[in-house]
Amino acid sequence: MTILVTGGAGYIGSHTVLQLLQGDADVLVADDLSNASPRVLDRLEELSGRPVPLVRIDVSDGASLGDVMDEYEVCEVLHFAGLKAVGESVVEPLRYYRHNLGSTLALLEACQSREVRRLVFSSSATVYGPDATSPVTEGRQTSATNPYGWTKVMIEQILRDLAVADPTWRIGILRYFNPVGAHPSGRLGEDPQGVPNNLLPFVAQVAVGRRDHLTIFGDDYPTPDGTGVRDFIHVEDLARGHVHALTHLRATEEPVSTFNLGTGAGTSVRELVAAFERASGRTIPVQVAERRPGDIAISYADPSVAESVLGWKAEKTIDDICSDAWRWQSRNPEGYTA
Ligand code: WQD
Repeated sequence: MTILVTGGAGYIGSHTVLQLLQGDADVLVADDLSNASPRVLDRLEELSGRPVPLVRIDVSDGASLGDVMDEYEVCEVLHFAGLKAVGESVVEPLRYYRHNLGSTLALLEACQSREVRRLVFSSSATVYGPDATSPVTEGRQTSATNPYGWTKVMIEQILRDLAVADPTWRIGILRYFNPVGAHPSGRLGEDPQGVPNNLLPFVAQVAVGRRDHLTIFGDDYPTPDGTGVRDFIHVEDLARGHVHALTHLRATEEPVSTFNLGTGAGTSVRELVAAFERASGRTIPVQVAERRPGDIAISYADPSVAESVLGWKAEKTIDDICSDAWRWQSRNPEGYTA
């Protein structure tokens, strides 16, 4: 019986696929490779010592997806596939709604018609909107400030409505805080296309000489050092959270369970930069600019529900994150292209 991982060639998906393979699961990766390199599959086979089948498919293509699910006898699904750039979603809302909602609906319909009822959904702390005070708990009302965030809010609602209509579903909604870091081998990591939107990959590219400085978006926030505070969670901890979530879905009677996957601790932009300088031995030149529209001052999780229900807790430190991210970036300065 196979676990289907949509978006499994992506950053979080690939780290999760590796942990599933290392746990002797049979995995099928469905990815259109629009935002991931095919070399990721080679690295997964190298690290796991196992073949990793890939179907290059747009998950919105329900007919092809159904055929693949039949061929591989898919029994449960991890759904990572989706467009995820906040700024891009503001410029291209229809593309984001069509792709993220369309692919999810096609996937759910393919599952529904095949008695597949276990699904883990890749959601985001972005669903807490701009007014949430930290630590953030799962019961908070959801909202968004951009089309990308709204697709996550809407998909969560679709999943809850589906589970009401058919309580045989077992759905895990995982709300990630700020995923960062890389596999300790230095063979898997974050490989954003173009200019990184997110902080850590940008810092790593400065350290390796691809960018000449980091722009800090605002140092006048109501935080200890004036820069934004976030809950940076190691991608390996995040991947392990998915393994725990699957185990939970196989045993629970709850149709839908929602979990924050975060450390419960906040780290500022300047603190993260300093940690990366320690890990890399490189100086990160910074320039302070205006706040970035849509940014909030502080965001970090209350992860106690995941700890008590999933038996999962983030274990890696900011220094682990920075040393693993630096090993990845310094050994793969141009990402997976090499
Ligand atoms: C973190 C902090 C920035 C870049 C985003 C998405 C969210 C989720 C995670 C998908 C902030 C500061 C950043 C830079 C900076 N993604 N920063 N200079 O905004 O918390 O969350 O990624 O689900 O949906 O919104 O992460 O890494 O972009 O920013 O100063 O070049 O770093 O202002 O304080 P964010 P981020």
